[in-house]
Amino acid sequence: MQSSTSDQTACPFWNKTWVKPLLPAQMPRRVMAHLAGTGCQPDNPGMLLPCQRALFEIPDHVAYFNCAYMSPLLRSVREAGVRAVALKTRPWELTPAMFFESMETAREGFATLAGTAADNVALIPAASYGMAVAALNLPVARGQQVLLLDEEFPSTIYAWQDRAKSAGAEAVLLRRPADDDWTRVVLEAISARTAVAALPHCHWTDGGLLDLARIRTALDAVGATLALDVTQSLGALPLDLSAVRPDMMVAACYKWLLGPYSTGFLYVAPRWHQGTPLERSWISREGSEDFSRLVDYRAGFRPGARRYDVGEPSNFALLPMVTEALRQLGAWTIPAIQQTLAAYCRELLEAVEPLGFTAVPADRRAGHFLGLRRARGMSPDLALRLAAAGVYASVRGNSLRVTPHLYNNRPDLDRFVAALTAATAPG
Ligand SMILES: Cc1ncc(COP(=O)(O)O)c(C=O)c1O
Repeated sequence: MQSSTSDQTACPFWNKTWVKPLLPAQMPRRVMAHLAGTGCQPDNPGMLLPCQRALFEIPDHVAYFNCAYMSPLLRSVREAGVRAVALKTRPWELTPAMFFESMETAREGFATLAGTAADNVALIPAASYGMAVAALNLPVARGQQVLLLDEEFPSTIYAWQDRAKSAGAEAVLLRRPADDDWTRVVLEAISARTAVAALPHCHWTDGGLLDLARIRTALDAVGATLALDVTQSLGALPLDLSAVRPDMMVAACYKWLLGPYSTGFLYVAPRWHQGTPLERSWISREGSEDFSRLVDYRAGFRPGARRYDVGEPSNFALLPMVTEALRQLGAWTIPAIQQTLAAYCRELLEAVEPLGFTAVPADRRAGHFLGLRRARGMSPDLALRLAAAGVYASVRGNSLRVTPHLYNNRPDLDRFVAALTAATAPG
């Protein structure tokens, strides 16, 4: 599908005078003004990326603000997938070496993006799989506590509730603070009883941010471990692994890593490289490269975190897609993605504040997330009403979750504000 002229030329930034919500009737003039090149005033041109919509296949009538639900594929990722699927029509070309190339290339791609070594990375199919590995291996003793955030994504909650129960420990759901200061809440909860804190970098409902470096220091002081789920942040929000030092960290690929569904990564700190995998996969064992000697059963594993790889980790159809998506993210750079998406969210918030919407304050929120709340409440079918106008966002908890990416352009932003104005109009 061809992208339109507006896609090719769209600038992601818009005139500060635009911040008042637009009536739908005003939109064409605004769009035309934009196309004529007016209203582009990036406040930090060095870090802001231009609109990348032409690299995606999103029709003009779709304003997609739902990356936290599922990102669309880049054209280049779809093409990599088409080529990769076709490989299985010619299995005689699939050499044993290719089983390892596909997984090691993806592993390396993730390691580079995350700022670690490939040896610390395992291939997993879902965040829940990685959390199950973490829950199996990080120590929890009777009477200890596992710290979790209330309303956190279930893949983390279920893994640790079960682990705490079987260990005779307590899974503590930390209450959402009225001032959105999750960092304070976690720091106050850490005690000599803490075994593990299982946390995100930002809350999946509204982007509420945690200062993981400070939390790590507090966990160190009581000898506790840190299990992270960065599915809603890695790829869009910089994470300094050397400061945060998670013990284990999971990320599913289908959101901010722009990859296909059923792929993900698990980071494992070197001190946990000798643990127990969930499966007993042959390919994770040492010497598995020699297909003729697989029945010389081996007790040892391939090096580093590879013992935790999911079965059939070579995943010929999906991993080339993952690798291409990681390459593109690296080319844009995560800091530049964050700055750009934060500019989108900031301006969108300004535009809808007159409608009574608020969000977590900017210094306590990941820039790529906007969880819009409204004291007057929101109609339960708000997301459906927006979708009817071609605008896609999610309701999560009490928030309308708005999560843009680099494919969003100015017409999208206009359409979002117009649709929200119409959907919340009295009567
Ligand atoms: C914070 C978070 N973690 C993980 C996931 C996906 O989990 P899984 O890969 O286990 O399906 C989601 C999906 O919305 C999420 O929001």
